[in-house]
Amino acid sequence: MLVSENETLKNNIIKWAEELGKDRTILLPLLQRVQKKYSSISPYAMQIIADLLDIHPVEVYSVVSFYSFLNDEPKGRFVIRLCRTISCEMSGRDRIARQLQNELGIAFGETTPDSRFTLEWTNCMGMCDLGPAMMVNDVVFTEMTPEKAHEIVERCRQTFSAFALQNKQEG
Ligand code: FES
Repeated sequence: MLVSENETLKNNIIKWAEELGKDRTILLPLLQRVQKKYSSISPYAMQIIADLLDIHPVEVYSVVSFYSFLNDEPKGRFVIRLCRTISCEMSGRDRIARQLQNELGIAFGETTPDSRFTLEWTNCMGMCDLGPAMMVNDVVFTEMTPEKAHEIVERCRQTFSAFALQNKQEG
């Protein structure tokens, strides 16, 4: 990141911290704002936040690494998270995992070279009786089948193409 980008990032974090109240209880909402704006939370951002809230950077890092919806590195436009917990495992998680890996050509923990998709495991999201469950960004999908996984990936691809075309036309 360039120096001026770092300065903008720092100024944004200071502004958001002031809006939120600037004590350690704002750590999570502050991280969410950084994530929303920048798609990930860089080590530099974590250091700024630690300094501002007067906490150790390790504390910030441990919160980022604990929550699967916070990232410390850039991810794809669509982050697909498949539940790996027991109920979903018993209702056919592995078939969905295989379908997603074949469909996207990547393993769990990886991002496609075109930055469209990241594939990750997640833990129980409270949909155990409707498994297998997965999320695409903030949207939850339940009772997954390989066919449904294929359709969802296709829909994401179409959305991405429309988005890219729109950017090209506007650019
Ligand atoms: S075990 Fe998958 S949602 Fe609970």
